[in-house]
Amino acid sequence: MRKILKGMEIRSSEWTMVGIWHDVGSADSLTDELSLRVAGKENVLVGRIDGELRACVAKCPHAGVAMERPDIEGSIVTCPLHGWRFDLNCNGREIHGYRPLATRDVKIENGTIFVMV
Ligand code: FES
Repeated sequence: MRKILKGMEIRSSEWTMVGIWHDVGSADSLTDELSLRVAGKENVLVGRIDGELRACVAKCPHAGVAMERPDIEGSIVTCPLHGWRFDLNCNGREIHGYRPLATRDVKIENGTIFVMV
């Protein structure tokens, strides 16, 4: 048995958290850059990358540092500290095979951006 209730997914008797949609601002504020937003208790980067709406966690998986202003070229996000490079068009995959950058589902509804955290 599988149900979705208020952002919680229930399978049989076990619970799996799938997240909750968080309002992170107006769609009018979107740019071709990633901008820092707060989604619940998580800092996320949101923007239109290669024309697609994208969101990822604003924390590098290498050393766990805040990545609030990464370099962006096409869909590639580069951490300014040691240069790990993540492809947002490939679910945050690190291009050398290191740990990926966590991405988040994102959508626009009625002019508002929502991120699933
Ligand atoms: S902390 Fe980001 S690459 Fe090292």
